[in-house]
Amino acid sequence: MPVLPEFIRLSWQRPGLDPPQRSTALAMLSPAELSRAELTRAGSVSVIQGRMLLRTLAGELLGLDPRAVPLSATCADCGGPHGQPRIPGLTVSLSHCATAVVAVATAEGHIGVDVEPLEGSAERAAAIAEVAGAGGIRRWTSVEAVLKCDGRGLRVDPREVAVTEGSAALGDGQYQLWYPELADDLQVTVAWRA
Ligand SMILES: CC(C)(COP(=O)(O)OP(=O)(O)OC[C@H]1O[C@@H](n2cnc3c(N)ncnc32)[C@H](O)[C@@H]1OP(=O)(O)O)[C@@H](O)C(=O)NCCC(=O)NCCS
Ligand SMILES: [Zn+2]
Repeated sequence: MPVLPEFIRLSWQRPGLDPPQRSTALAMLSPAELSRAELTRAGSVSVIQGRMLLRTLAGELLGLDPRAVPLSATCADCGGPHGQPRIPGLTVSLSHCATAVVAVATAEGHIGVDVEPLEGSAERAAAIAEVAGAGGIRRWTSVEAVLKCDGRGLRVDPREVAVTEGSAALGDGQYQLWYPELADDLQVTVAWRA
């Protein structure tokens, strides 16, 4: 069971939509989201699913139909539709990996989420240690969740994030961390700051 405070809502799925689910999901998406999903090809199911989960979650919190949720994700660098997702009245975050799609939302403070598979090659572990320092996959999902909560993502050097069990700091920002256990094969960190 996910262990999260009540003011944080999480929704997740394994990647994959059958044709009726895909039609339902596509009908929720904005033109910008549809073009983003087309551009990403291999990852398009996860992109579609992520937006579907996020729109459904936000719709429940805001009392809106998922299609009517005013979700934008404008990139701060180029203006493209692949930046931090924003919905007035909430803060939200999304993450996808090969085996999961996770969305979180809250009406209080700022939020970020990251999911990664627990298993991986030695090369992957070495690459993660290179950018995040020692500490393994939990440390890496914590760093990414904080960077997504911050909103700059990997424009910030991941080594600037100081992580301890249950909390993190980046510049003046203090973050609380949670590790909801969604499945045995996944590491998830949710980062939140007031
Ligand atoms: C945010 C970032 C760390 C996520 O990378 P990742 O771990 O490979 O991917 P995840 O699946 O965990 O997260 C992807 C989601 O993060 C969200 N996201 C993208 N940019 C974000 C940002 N700056 N802050 C918070 N969330 C962001 C999006 O919702 C995206 O999913 P979507 O495009 O399907 O909506 C990475 O994309 C990044 O650092 N982006 C900023 C730098 C950049 O891309 N600049 C673009 C220049 S054109
Ligand atoms: Zn961009």
